[in-house]
Amino acid sequence: MSAILQLQGISKRYGAVVASDNLSLHLNPDEALGVIGPNGSGKTTMFNIITGIAVADRGHIFLEGTEITRLRAFERCRRGIARSFQIPHPFGGMSVLENLLVSAVFAQGESEKKVSHRCLEILEETGLLGKANVRAGSLTLLDRKRLELARALAANPKVLLLDEIAGGLTEQECRLLIEEITRIRSRGVSIIWIEHVVHALLAVVDRLVVINFGKKIDDGEPHTVMGTQAVKNIYMGPEGDAV
Ligand SMILES: Nc1ncnc2c1ncn2[C@@H]1O[C@H](COP(=O)(O)OP(=O)(O)O)[C@@H](O)[C@H]1O
Ligand SMILES: [Mg+2]
Repeated sequence: MSAILQLQGISKRYGAVVASDNLSLHLNPDEALGVIGPNGSGKTTMFNIITGIAVADRGHIFLEGTEITRLRAFERCRRGIARSFQIPHPFGGMSVLENLLVSAVFAQGESEKKVSHRCLEILEETGLLGKANVRAGSLTLLDRKRLELARALAANPKVLLLDEIAGGLTEQECRLLIEEITRIRSRGVSIIWIEHVVHALLAVVDRLVVINFGKKIDDGEPHTVMGTQAVKNIYMGPEGDAV
C-alpha cells in the first residue's frame, strides 16, 4: 500500500534543542495513526513541518507520492493537509460560521456561496450549529476545540492532523469527540492524532507511534506499543513496572 503522507529523515533544531531527529514515518490511506510522547519531544514540531509552518533542516515530505517539502503552507493546505492547533486560536472577532467560511474559501479556492452549505453541515456534525452566529472569542473550551476541528474539516482535507484535542474535556465530551473523529475517518479522511489522553487514542487509532527527543522510538499495533518497556519508561519512569 502506498502512503498518503510520508516523512523521510526529518531533522529540525531550535538552537541547541533537537526538536526532530532523523524522523521518518508514513500514514496509509484511510488510516488513523496515533502519536504519543512526553512534553517537548517534538510532536507539534512534526505537525509544523508537515504543514509548512516550520521548515525542516533536513529531510523530505511526500503527499500522495509527490514531494511537498518546499511548498508553502497555503499550497499544502490546498493539496489537502489540514490541522487543529494545540492552543486554539480562532479569529475571535468573527462568528463561528465566519471562521469556517474563511477556512473553506482559503483552502478550496471556492466562493463563499459554494462552500457555505458544507460549512453548515460541519457545524451540525460538530455540535456547533446553534452557535453559528456567536463570536468565536466568547466560546467555552469545549466549543473552541470543536471549532478547531470544524475549521480543519472546512478545508475538506485528505489528511487531518489533530494536536491534543481531547485534553481538558469531561468523559462525556471525550466520548462525543471519539465518535466524531471515528465518523470523519470512516468518510475516508486519513488522520494523525497527537494525544495525551491515551484511552481516547486507543478507541480510534489503527497504529501508534512513540516519539521521544525528536526520534521515533516505536511504531506498531497500539496495545502492543503501549505495553512496551520503552513506553512504560517514558510515562512512569524506569521503575514503571512497580507502579
Ligand atoms: N518555534 C520554536 N522556537 C524555539 N524552540 C521551539 C520552537 N518550537 C518548538 N521548540 C522546542 O522544540 C522542542 C519540541 O517542542 P514541541 O514540538 O512543541 O513538543 P511537543 O509538542 O512534543 O510537546 C521543545 O524543546 C520546544 O521548546
Ligand atoms: Mg505539542
